[in-house]
Amino acid sequence: IFKDATTASKHVGEEIANLIQENNSVGQTTVLGFATGSTPTQVYDELIRMHNEEGLTFQNVITFNLDEYFPMEPESLQSYVRFMNEHLFNHIDIPEDQVHIPDGTIAEEDVAEYCKNYEQKIQDAGGLDIQLLGIGRTGHIGFNEPGSRPNSGTRLITLDGITRKDAASDFFGEEYVPRRAITMGVGTILDADRIIMMAWGEGKAPIIKETVEGPIRERVPATYLQKHNNAQVILDEASAENLT
Ligand code: F6R
Repeated sequence: IFKDATTASKHVGEEIANLIQENNSVGQTTVLGFATGSTPTQVYDELIRMHNEEGLTFQNVITFNLDEYFPMEPESLQSYVRFMNEHLFNHIDIPEDQVHIPDGTIAEEDVAEYCKNYEQKIQDAGGLDIQLLGIGRTGHIGFNEPGSRPNSGTRLITLDGITRKDAASDFFGEEYVPRRAITMGVGTILDADRIIMMAWGEGKAPIIKETVEGPIRERVPATYLQKHNNAQVILDEASAENLT
């Protein structure tokens, strides 16, 4: 628990940079799983700062994003491709072909095959070293909404009503929020060597309490993280306020 999101995000940024530098020093690649949304933006700011001021290089980093709305054009205002470019990738030296974000333009009949390939690419890269996560008020991680199975893989899912409400302002009205998304599965996330879940603000306090102190259950997919042997929950004081 950190005093605020800025301090916590600097800490997370440093942890990621340390791993990249350790791996660079022995000529190894670093495989990172990234999230979008408001939660990780200050972590990305910190990575950009270290790139600009401290020579942190991303030449040997491979990234996989958790999710993308479906359907979604990459140029759209709300696309996660645009989000990642604006918040991170346009500002660092990562080679374009080392970035992976689920493609929201795939034809529906090809999505299952596409998702299988996405899983395979993560495997081929050597698996995720660190997966960054936010958490939705439904308890979703990625877009694994309530009802998601612990061994689920990358797939097309239907977004929960609460998630669509929370996204309404980004889309200028709930009716314009896509009903579906492609997301890495719970199983995909749990396969990461290390998981860092972050949450800020009092709005997340109830779901953080359920996630950390509640029983593991399908209704709150984030509780599956309790089974992981290297998962950290990084909070500001406001999101931690309901914890006993
Ligand atoms: C985003 C993602 C979601 C968000 C969650 C929290 O790629 O997978 O699980 O992390 O909805 O969103 P924010 O950070 O906007 O509160």
